[in-house]
Parts: sequence; structure tokens; C-alpha cells
Amino acid sequence: MRLFPVGGCSTYALFLPLVLAHREYLPSWSANFYRPHGLHEVEVKSVGLVNVETVFFATDSGISTLHDGLLTPVVELRDAELTSFHLCHHRSSIFYETLSRDGGVLTIYEYNLALKESVKVTSFQETVPAKALACIDHLLLRSSRANLVAISLATHGAPRSMLQKFKEDEYLASLAVAFPADSVQHAEIFGVVPRNRSVVKLRLNQDSVNLRLSEVEELLTAGDGTDGPIEHASVLEPLHVAWLHGKLLVVDKCSLRQVSGEPMVVKTLLGRSDLECSVNETLAPAPWASKISAARGVATESEGTAGQTALLLTGQQVIQVTQDDTCAEISRETCVKAGCGWAEGDRTSQRHCFPCKRLQSWADAQRPALDPCVLEAGTQPGPTRYDLEACGCVPPPAPTKAPKSQGAPLLILLRLVAFFGAIGAGLTYCYRGYRQRQRQQLEAEMYMPAPHVQFHTFNDSGYVRYDESEPFS
Ligand SMILES: *[C@@H]1O[C@H](CO)[C@@H](O)[C@H](O)[C@H]1NC(C)=O
Ligand SMILES: *[C@@H]1O[C@H](CO)[C@@H](O)[C@H](O)[C@H]1NC(C)=O
Repeated sequence: MRLFPVGGCSTYALFLPLVLAHREYLPSWSANFYRPHGLHEVEVKSVGLVNVETVFFATDSGISTLHDGLLTPVVELRDAELTSFHLCHHRSSIFYETLSRDGGVLTIYEYNLALKESVKVTSFQETVPAKALACIDHLLLRSSRANLVAISLATHGAPRSMLQKFKEDEYLASLAVAFPADSVQHAEIFGVVPRNRSVVKLRLNQDSVNLRLSEVEELLTAGDGTDGPIEHASVLEPLHVAWLHGKLLVVDKCSLRQVSGEPMVVKTLLGRSDLECSVNETLAPAPWASKISAARGVATESEGTAGQTALLLTGQQVIQVTQDDTCAEISRETCVKAGCGWAEGDRTSQRHCFPCKRLQSWADAQRPALDPCVLEAGTQPGPTRYDLEACGCVPPPAPTKAPKSQGAPLLILLRLVAFFGAIGAGLTYCYRGYRQRQRQQLEAEMYMPAPHVQFHTFNDSGYVRYDESEPFS
């Protein structure tokens, strides 16, 4: 709301739907991947994956792998709590940090996925737990509220290089590395700075003596969350970054966005630029019609995979987001001709052509399972329209036109006067109505029951702050 200080009701009432920033949608598909259920659910803090068959979840008490919908522990902690987790694709290992129960020691271990065993890397006699870990070549980067350090994995004793000391909360909350298997000089590091809501790019330089931070460049700044060329694009509230096959993924409040191309362009994979996230999550065939809560993490497939898959950890579930351009037609006509389904929103950027088999799996995943044709019949709420004729749905009968009124010009004039009179009266009252709705919404939010399933997060301070009303003022 603070982005749009508007004086009068009419402007608000008429332009409320336009408050959302411009988004450009990529051909992508989102589906529920995992949803904890029952009383013995786990509180997932972080996700890592090699591919969609090999997925790891981190909780306070250890790391589990998901197989056939069941979680099997791979690392169980007894006298310590897990504080950070990172799956390092090029080393086929998982780095994790633990804080001893008595509070005194932070230890980093590396769990080898092939040997199925953990080796201690290093330990810290301090209690500022890691916010993020990331591997580059033979280095492990560790970011905490206090500093960014690089730990050498190739040298005995795991010597550390101090890259940056953070003052006044300007720490990096999430790290992603482009080309992590390349040498340190070539790797690009991306990070999220919660303090000023920006995404930054870092570079390292290694000379014969030491390793240091050679460059910090701001990639995306805080704004209304507009997509487009990177110079004009902005982020609302970046939470996490991840690298996927040459592209940078950014979890931005309740949407997943992507930075890619040369020159760089920002586009959206899932969700909208709402200032308030949804409590009840819904996944729809059209990416702008899906609503998710603020995401708590994102993980991407290893470079060696053919897929284009990321897993998004939200407050209620793990969502699989896959780029899929098998039906990348840009007009309704060519899309239907190609045998695909079509979705269209109110904005010109909201056009989505998708394979019919995806539509069927979406319908099967609903509880209770739905007939996909209900989307076309328009029984689902929301402004998105679907054309599913190519997917075997019979189009709904065209609305029968009312017989044309043969009224005299005077009658038409009277109707116009009545019409504009009604609009005027409506506008006069709507500001009050708006204020009242705002108050009610605020009250509703204050008393909103906690979601049934709760995930916790490493970067708890970041999200706890998000839950407050004015997180970064
Ligand atoms: C945000 O913080 C980062 C890291 O401290 C800095 O590099 C960047 O310039 C800051 N951006 C703004 C707009 O202040
Ligand atoms: C969320 O879903 C629950 C259960 O379906 C429902 O009771 C609740 O009213 C919904 N909340 C909102 C804000 O839509």
C-alpha cells in the first residue's frame, strides 16, 4: 500500500487491479512435489536435490532423503542442532553446520553421497550460526551475520580466508554460485542482502598469497517487483537465490523469478507481485493464477541434468517448478491448433500455452480430483480464462444475447444518466468501504490461525521479520 499513496477513492477503486507490477511469464509448470501430512510430519528447513529422484530435506535434527513419498534419515543429530545445509553438486556431497546443544561449538561436516558418511571439515568457537553455505571449486563459502569467509577444502586443517566483515546487518542471507566447478576467478557468486532488499553479484580473486573479494556489484535493487530488462527490473523482497543451468533464480516474496540472457532480462516463473502473500496456497495451470506463501527456500537440479527443475519450499509444501516450452505458442489460435491448452489473464503479459497432459495431472492432483474442463466452464473463481478445446473439453455454450432494446433516444439518454449517477454514488461510498475492508483485512490477518503444517527456516530472523507488518522500514 505504501507504494501507491493515493488521495481519492475513485483512483483506488478504479486502479486497484493495476497496483500489481508488470510481470512477464515464462512457459513453466508448477505442481505439488511433497506435502507433509499426519501428526508425524517433519519441519523442513531446507531442500537440496541432485535430480527429482534424489532429493534431500534438512530439519533441525538431521537430513533425510525422500523415496517413494517416504523420508529416510541419512544424517541424525543427537547432541546438536542443524543450522545450515548446502548440497554441493560438483563434489556430490552435502555440507551442513551443527550447533552443539550446550551452545558452544559450531561444526561443519561434509556428507559424501557415494560413501554415505560424514567427515568433519572445521569447527568454530563462536555462536554466530551460518546463514548460508555454498561451494566453489575447492572452497566452501560461509556467510553469517558477522562475516563472509572462505574455507579451503583442499588444504589440511581447512584454513579460512576472511572475505568480508559485515557491519550493521548488511550480511548475505542466501548464496548461489554460477559455474561452481570452475576455478575461483571465473565463478560468479550471487547473494541476497536483506537489509536493503537487493541482490548482489560478487567476484573473488586469488593471488599467490591470499584470496579476497574483488568486486561487489548490485544486480537488482528494491522496488515494486517489475520484470523486464535488468536495468528497469526490481525486486520486492528477495529471500533466496539459486543457480540453474545458466540462469539465476530469485525467490522474491511470494513469487519465483529468473534472471537470464544476454543482455539480462528478469521474468517470472510462478506467482505474482502481490504485496501480501497468500495464506492458502493454490497452484493453477496459469503461473500468474497460482498463489503461494512467502517461500522459505529454493533448490535446483545439478548441472548434469537435462531437466529445468527447481524445488520451492513454502510454508505449506514443496513445489516443483519446471520450465516446459513444448507448447510455447504465443497466440491462442496457434496454441489450440498445436493441440495445447490456453490460458489468458487480464493483462497482455498473461498468456500461457501448455501441454494437455500437464492439465490432466493438475486436475488429478486436486483434492478432490477435478475434471480439467471445469476451468473452461468458468466455474473457477478468478479472472483467468481457459480454452481447453484441444485438450478434449467441449467449449461452454456461448451466452445467449438478450434481444436488442428498440428504445427511443430519450430512453437511452435516461439510462445513461442513471448509469453515471450510480457510478458517482458508488465512488462516493467506496472510499469508506475500502477503508473498512482494509480494517477488516488487517483484523483478519491479526487473528489468522497458524497454518496446520509449519516449516521452520534457518534464516528465521529474516522471515520472522517478514511476518511483521513493516519488515524493512
Ligand atoms: C545494498 O547493500 C549492498 C551490500 O552492502 C551494497 O553493495 C549495495 O550497494 C546496497 N544497495 C543500496 C541501494 O544501497
Ligand atoms: C484457507 O483455507 C481454509 C480451509 O480450506 C479456510 O477455512 C480458510 O477460510 C481459508 N482462508 C482464507 C484466508 O482464504
